[in-house]
Amino acid sequence: MSNIIILGAQWGDEGKGKLVDLLADRFDFIVRYQGGNNAGHTILIGDRKFVLRLVPSGILHPGKVAVIGNGLVVDPLALLEEVEQLIAAGVDVASQLRISNRAQVLLPSHRLVEKISEGTNGKIPSRIAIGTTLKGIGPCYEDKAGRRGIRVADLMDRDYFPGAMTALMEDHRTRARAFGIDDSINVEELVARYVEAAERIRPMVCDTARLLADAMASGRNLLFEGAQGTMLDLDHGTYPFVTSSSASAGGACTGTGVAPTKIDGVIGISKAYTTRVGGGPFTSEATGAVGDLLRNRGNEFGSVTGRPRRCGWFDVPLIRYTAAINGFDSMVVTKLDVLDELDEIPVCVAYKINGATTCEIPATWRELAKAEPVYERLPGWRTRTKGMSEWGDLPRAAQQYLLFLEGQSGVEVGCISTGPERNETIRRGESRFAALTD
Ligand code: GDP
Ligand code: IMO
Ligand code: MG
Repeated sequence: MSNIIILGAQWGDEGKGKLVDLLADRFDFIVRYQGGNNAGHTILIGDRKFVLRLVPSGILHPGKVAVIGNGLVVDPLALLEEVEQLIAAGVDVASQLRISNRAQVLLPSHRLVEKISEGTNGKIPSRIAIGTTLKGIGPCYEDKAGRRGIRVADLMDRDYFPGAMTALMEDHRTRARAFGIDDSINVEELVARYVEAAERIRPMVCDTARLLADAMASGRNLLFEGAQGTMLDLDHGTYPFVTSSSASAGGACTGTGVAPTKIDGVIGISKAYTTRVGGGPFTSEATGAVGDLLRNRGNEFGSVTGRPRRCGWFDVPLIRYTAAINGFDSMVVTKLDVLDELDEIPVCVAYKINGATTCEIPATWRELAKAEPVYERLPGWRTRTKGMSEWGDLPRAAQQYLLFLEGQSGVEVGCISTGPERNETIRRGESRFAALTD
């Protein structure tokens, strides 16, 4: 057994929650390392559906420890809402959840600051609307990098916190006003709510880097749960149409305090096609009726905002890029069943940019926006794969489709998801995936 990272190989919503939940029984600690409640990880167990935003997906397994690492931005009110739902579902949150004392605290006024970019209709030349989740994630990470952020340890400091929160909220209001944003907000009431929330989460707060170091020293295994996806990574994604954290493998170390030498493998999760929520270039996007078909069959509506997800085809250059950034050993291809009814399935195998064919991802969104997809069209299988759990049961054309993705990407397909439930999964024996997770 080993310590492994599960992360998104595309633009998020690849099915990370399902995979983490599926694998959690083989690990002792399940650890989130970045992001905040912009994430929405869906887990379906029979007729029960959970959408986890801040709490790691392993919490649904009794006895497993779920850790919110230092790399996250935590809205304590959103966290408590999630905790209440889990308690109502019978989860022993008090003994299973641990929160880093070094994570950043997200304040309601971070959402005011976000409106400067997202709510001014392009009137401010330096600001581009990204189509964010409007949770205040970007501004909270800005404060972290600006060294004025408030951390969970500060939230725990009864003497320090109320003054610090009041001062930072005033800073946010001043900035919002300067850009003509309505800054009405009841600071006193919000500070009181945060102070109350602090007492509720206090028993779960600790030095999680130390907790994880001790766990590893006593032979426990860690599963790192990425949020968002590599193409939304602040450094490596389609900047500026990205989130503000390190969603790629490097983030697992900085966002938890676990050293790179302790990580044994990385598994990338990719859909059998591609989706994206929000703005930014999307080379293999399928608009019109085909896009609608994927959206409806795949139920591609955001689990946080309910927004329709943009849909398109599997993008080989993108996966080659994210495989290189993260060094995945293996990939999981999810939502294969969504393609069941298609006669033919296009796969984007290269880009054409300014007349030249390339597999490289350009650094600017302007250049990437010029890319035209070069498609290879594979035959569909027009048979139901939904719920299958054996490779041998898959129709031949579905096997060939998966082997094509594997060959083109240069990464093994170690596991295939054929439905949202735990048992709707095909694990390929003799794979690197099996070696890392069995
Ligand atoms: P995450 O953010 O990566 O955890 O993914 P989301 O939960 O946002 O979105 C994935 C959606 O697809 C969820 O509604 C899952 O229940 C669903 N899902 C996951 N795997 C499969 C699959 O193999 N087939 C189908 N049809 N749905 C799946
Ligand atoms: P999970 O973990 C898909 C997108 C937003 C927007 C951009 C920036 O469920 O895969 P932000 O609010 O983070 O500043 O928004 O990132 N985004 C996601 N898209 N899945 C997610 O999370 C996302 N989290 C953020 O739509 O384009
Ligand atoms: Mg999601």
